[in-house]
Amino acid sequence: MRKKILITGGGGFAPGNIISKADKSWEIFTLDREFPGKLPEGVSLREMDLTDGKALEKALSDHSPEVIVHTAAVSDIDVCEHNRELAKKVNVEVTARLVEYCARTNTKLIYFSTDSVFDGKKGMYTEEDKPVPLNFYAETKVYSEELIKKGLTNWVIIRPSLIVGLPVSGTGNSFLRKTLDAVAEGKEVAFPKEEIRTPLDVITLSLCVWELAGTNLTGYFHLAGNDRTSRYEMALRIADKFNFSRNLVVPKQPDATGGRAPRPVDASLNNAKAKRTLATPMRSLESGFDLIIENERKKGKDI
Ligand SMILES: NC(=O)c1ccc[n+]([C@@H]2O[C@H](COP(=O)([O-])OP(=O)(O)OC[C@H]3O[C@@H](n4cnc5c(N)ncnc54)[C@H](OP(=O)(O)O)[C@@H]3O)[C@@H](O)[C@H]2O)c1
Repeated sequence: MRKKILITGGGGFAPGNIISKADKSWEIFTLDREFPGKLPEGVSLREMDLTDGKALEKALSDHSPEVIVHTAAVSDIDVCEHNRELAKKVNVEVTARLVEYCARTNTKLIYFSTDSVFDGKKGMYTEEDKPVPLNFYAETKVYSEELIKKGLTNWVIIRPSLIVGLPVSGTGNSFLRKTLDAVAEGKEVAFPKEEIRTPLDVITLSLCVWELAGTNLTGYFHLAGNDRTSRYEMALRIADKFNFSRNLVVPKQPDATGGRAPRPVDASLNNAKAKRTLATPMRSLESGFDLIIENERKKGKDI
């Protein structure tokens, strides 16, 4: 008997990759506004807006999942900053409904938070460090984390660092896809020099999610790569690996007043707990790039 799992936002960048790495022991269904490209075999989709409470409740009772992976969110930091009502509705109120459902049905909830919950003053944050959000996106994530901790016992909160990879279809929130598309047209790409992150490839992230879904592990997990790097330096390494000119990578000026929401300077995450607890190995940036390229080649795609 296959275990039933719901993945919210399956048409997006990270969730699409998670779905693509499922093994046959899972019966997957996903809820999203739409699914770009071809729906993978064996996956069922209900197209809906997750903020429609009645439709969400109906979908949950029709499918009765044993595990929910809640990834759907307004994931653009600047969109959240300038559309707070929408961000609250999607990022907090949907989580609240899922928490209520999971509490009632004893369903495991795996929630996607973010490295941005920290203020970035210290870096290499552990699961024990206290979140201090600097922007509204991070506030919605911290608020959701609190709802989960108060309402449930069987939960996992994943705080991914910057996720590197290519979407299975569409563009989603993949900065790598957007970067490769831009440089293919000869456009410059701007990355901040002062923002430090511990990027993780989306394939390792996906394998961790399946491990967390299939075991009785609970609690916080910082899913991050082994390398601590500025986003600018990371972009230069992407240029080398994905064969475009380093001259196309330019520094992005810090611009908290010009419409860009404030970001933590050093939001690097300590991945010691993930390394200690999970069988899935955490990777260096270089090894993550190799995994992404190998994954595309297996699909017959050239990058
Ligand atoms: N990418 C990163 O580097 C990163 C880092 C840390 C944490 N995260 C977190 O990881 C999760 C996945 O991120 P991602 O980059 O894969 O984001 P993504 O590509 O934007 O995927 C999110 C999906 O959720 C869907 N969605 C949003 N609002 C919805 C609604 N009201 N009803 C139905 N579907 C809705 C989106 O559809 P639309 O496209 O139509 O809105 C999209 O398909 C998010 O929770 C994000 O905050 C991401």
